[in-house]
Amino acid sequence: MMSWFFFSLLLGLWARDGQAGGLMPPQKVNLDADNAAQQLSVTWEGSQATSFDMEILRTELMEIVLNETVFVKLNLSTGRYQRNWTSPVPLECTSLSVKVRSRDGQDVSEWSPQQILPGKDLPYKAEAQMYPEVKVVPVGSNMTFCCIVAEGQQFGSMWYSQTRLNETMLSRRTYAATVTNQSLSKPSGTNVFCSNEKTTIKTADAGAVVFVGYPPLPSDLVCETHDLVSVSCAWTEGRKTYLYGTQRKTNYTLNGRACSIEKGPMQCGLDQWEGFWTLVAYNPLGQVRLTDAAELDHRVRPLAPVNLSPRVVQALNAIVEWRWSIEGYKTLSLICQVHLTNLWNNSTKTYTGVGLNSVVLKDLEPDEDYSARVRCGVQKNFWKWGEWSSALAFKTKMDRPDAPDVWVWMNSDDFGRVLWKPLTKRQSHGQITGYEVTLWSPEENIQQTVTLPRTTHSLPINGTDRGSTVMVTARNPAGVSRPASVVVPGQIPDEKEIPVSRVAFNGSGFSLSWAAHANASCGYVWEWYRTGCALDCSVEWTRVAPDNTSAVVQSSDFMSGVRYTLSVYACSSEAPRLLERWHGYMQELAPSMSVPGLSLDQKGSDVQLTWEQIPLEQQRGFILGYNVYLTHTSHPTLYANITDPQLTNLTVSHLSPGSYKFTVKAYTTAGEDEGVTGFISLKPYTDWLILEILVSLGVMTCLLTLISSLCYRKRKWVKKAFYPEIPEPKLPGSWGITQGTLDVKPSPHSMVHIVENPEWESSKEALVTVPEEDEDEDGDEPLALRYYNHVVGEGSTSGRHPYAFDSSASSIGSMDSGRTDVTYTGIQTSASSPVPPQPDASGPGRRVGGGGYQPQMQSALYPAVAHTGPEEAPELGSFGGYQPQCSWKPDSSDAEDGGLDCMGSPTSVTSSQFLLPEDTSSPEGKENLSSATTWFHHFLTGKT
Ligand SMILES: *[C@@H]1O[C@H](CO)[C@@H](O)[C@H](O)[C@H]1NC(C)=O
Ligand SMILES: *[C@@H]1O[C@H](CO)[C@@H](O)[C@H](O)[C@H]1NC(C)=O
Ligand SMILES: *[C@@H]1O[C@H](CO)[C@@H](O)[C@H](O)[C@H]1NC(C)=O
Ligand SMILES: *[C@@H]1O[C@H](CO)[C@@H](O)[C@H](O)[C@H]1NC(C)=O
Ligand SMILES: *[C@@H]1O[C@H](CO)[C@@H](O)[C@H](O)[C@H]1NC(C)=O
Repeated sequence: MMSWFFFSLLLGLWARDGQAGGLMPPQKVNLDADNAAQQLSVTWEGSQATSFDMEILRTELMEIVLNETVFVKLNLSTGRYQRNWTSPVPLECTSLSVKVRSRDGQDVSEWSPQQILPGKDLPYKAEAQMYPEVKVVPVGSNMTFCCIVAEGQQFGSMWYSQTRLNETMLSRRTYAATVTNQSLSKPSGTNVFCSNEKTTIKTADAGAVVFVGYPPLPSDLVCETHDLVSVSCAWTEGRKTYLYGTQRKTNYTLNGRACSIEKGPMQCGLDQWEGFWTLVAYNPLGQVRLTDAAELDHRVRPLAPVNLSPRVVQALNAIVEWRWSIEGYKTLSLICQVHLTNLWNNSTKTYTGVGLNSVVLKDLEPDEDYSARVRCGVQKNFWKWGEWSSALAFKTKMDRPDAPDVWVWMNSDDFGRVLWKPLTKRQSHGQITGYEVTLWSPEENIQQTVTLPRTTHSLPINGTDRGSTVMVTARNPAGVSRPASVVVPGQIPDEKEIPVSRVAFNGSGFSLSWAAHANASCGYVWEWYRTGCALDCSVEWTRVAPDNTSAVVQSSDFMSGVRYTLSVYACSSEAPRLLERWHGYMQELAPSMSVPGLSLDQKGSDVQLTWEQIPLEQQRGFILGYNVYLTHTSHPTLYANITDPQLTNLTVSHLSPGSYKFTVKAYTTAGEDEGVTGFISLKPYTDWLILEILVSLGVMTCLLTLISSLCYRKRKWVKKAFYPEIPEPKLPGSWGITQGTLDVKPSPHSMVHIVENPEWESSKEALVTVPEEDEDEDGDEPLALRYYNHVVGEGSTSGRHPYAFDSSASSIGSMDSGRTDVTYTGIQTSASSPVPPQPDASGPGRRVGGGGYQPQMQSALYPAVAHTGPEEAPELGSFGGYQPQCSWKPDSSDAEDGGLDCMGSPTSVTSSQFLLPEDTSSPEGKENLSSATTWFHHFLTGKT
């Protein structure tokens, strides 16, 4: 055991001696720093070992940044060992200490003396710094920045553009931060800042910039010749590098010669054809090589032809020539393309030839603007088309126009028009100057020609032209067209012969189809126009081939709510023959007007409605029928739906009396029109009512007659019964009173005496009254009676109207008869009231009331004049000396008149008559009434 211990000890000692003595430490260790590459190159010499331990520390903080064992071979040319180390941190950031020792298995030498690479954080460099200062790196790379704060300052923060970085301390003044996976920078680069505790990002005291981009990546290098001598190579740039500026942009060399490419296509030229080309593209991040190789005659791309010019230009063809700028092309077999465009067409034609420099262009349109361009290639070993030449514009010459499309349209048997379509620019071959229309009648063999201006495209024809052939030619400066002819039909087929059917509009147009016709040698013509249009009808027609028996009639001119007539004709050498005819609407609308002329007639308990058809223009759709609505008591109800549009009357039966409202609305598939309404008030009992009135009147008359005659026969008895003789009072003594003044017979009953304006008795004047208002026919009683009632009622209930009813006057008035008369003062018209001139009334008689009482009855249309009753006039004189105050002295010689006029005083004059309004509308009735009452009065008093 003991011996084992010593053996080991001895072995250890031996080994230690061997280490100390056997291996030489590296000599002359030298440091070389490549700051841009952050590479530290360590070289040494003087050792036979092949492996070395190397240790690199940050000098200040003694942090190991590298501890490795490396195998390095002796560089025989320099006689030194070399180890390159790339630092993740820029070498300027802080000082590094490097030491190396030799190793042979477990044997190691002494460490070499420490070599120090001084950093920029040494006190002699006191200002703030940041490293690396400028760097170009590829996208996605990681980078460590370090910030050396100024001497005496404290570290603040580090920013990568707008991002704050996490720093680590490397030395007293140095802080480092790493940015991973960098993305593309702006063209001006990404800024990295460092600030101390006093500054901010805006006032950072140190900064660096980093450009992040890509290495170049061009492709497709192709070289060719234009002039058969030099070479021109082109390539595509490929992915952008995002690196700009002289120091960072991509540089190119072609076969070692620098290419100057500012902007534009990636092209580089060489003076001579070398047959083999290498393109090198490089920037700070890397380089790419592209190669190409070819024979010259396989890579000829001719330049564009120059000086194109039209040598000869005709109506239908032209010769275009050009020049070549390269002499060598004249011996080359060339292939050329001519691109020709005009307003509505373009075409490309190919021509070949040795040194080709002119082509003949055929099939051109007359009077047409053309534009031509030419490009060429080499026919043998064709490589690519050359560039297009600049365009050559030329215009072809004019030519005779095409024949116009002629049609004949007959509106009626006697009127029609020959129509032709205006020639399009393509058909006219030059400005049309006019048309010539020739009518040729084969029977009479008369030919007449009309020349028309170019704006005219129709010619009226009449019945005498039937069967004639119409020929139309168009003229332009180059000549006259072929004639187009049409035969005027002999007679228009009857509507019954060719029934008109309806055609629907199916979204794009009217779909017509017709049976094939044997005579349609030149096909069919369909034609359409607005139904019902007159002279200025715009007729459209289109020809279709004989094997077509259907067509879709389309037009942007179709309008909603307008009826069109569409017809198909068979075309032959004879007159066009109408095959079928349709009516159609593009879109039906409700009628724009209601049925005109609605009238309602009562026939007993029936009502007959009649109306007229809506004019075609306003129908705006096929009238399907009429809806008749009836409104009686409640809201309108559909009474009848007439589905026959021709039916324009309706009888509504068995209506009970009352008022009715009928509304008639025509309707199309689009709906009803606004409707027209008629009112009728049913009086089914009118006849009966009249009959009833007549019968009752008759019965009344009979009854009255009977009673009257009875009374007359028994008048003695009546008088006895109602007017018994009152014996004269037996007075003891003579009172000296005459009998006449003591007529105090009590009247058995009051009686109304109605006196009318006595126009029937023109010799006597009467009191004038003015109706307060127009006669109201609705009243139950005649106006006279109402007025009477009014007067009596007022007078009897109060004394407010002393002039209206005076009982004392009554007693005076009743003195000469056994009746009790209602008397009142006369009411006169005001002077201002217009008095209609009356032929039978003398002037003074009418000018009453100038100073008299003025009633409030002035609103009457015809102020009537009420006169005192004819009977009472003579009584005036017997008033026993009482003189009415009269403010107006009559200048008339008629004393009676003057006396009567003075009765206008409200206080002094009594009247025994009622004031009756003068009814000018029925004076006769009043007269009758008046005379009837007089008669009754006389009848009862026995004066008859
Ligand atoms: C260097 O590395 C070796 C082996 O990897 C290790 O034995 C040695 O202790 C390290 N040196 C330091 C100073 O850490
Ligand atoms: C080390 O870098 C230098 C340039 O600094 C270069 O010449 C040398 O070949 C490199 N040596 C090794 C072993 O990479
Ligand atoms: C950058 O660092 C990340 C880890 O931080 C690593 O995964 C990545 O590979 C690094 N990129 C490069 C190009 O070294
Ligand atoms: C800085 O460190 C914090 C915490 O360790 C981390 O959340 C953050 O993402 C880091 N920032 C950067 C820019 O690395
Ligand atoms: C490209 O060429 C310019 C000179 O024309 C030179 O200054 C620049 O450094 C070149 N770029 C690179 C990446 O070599």
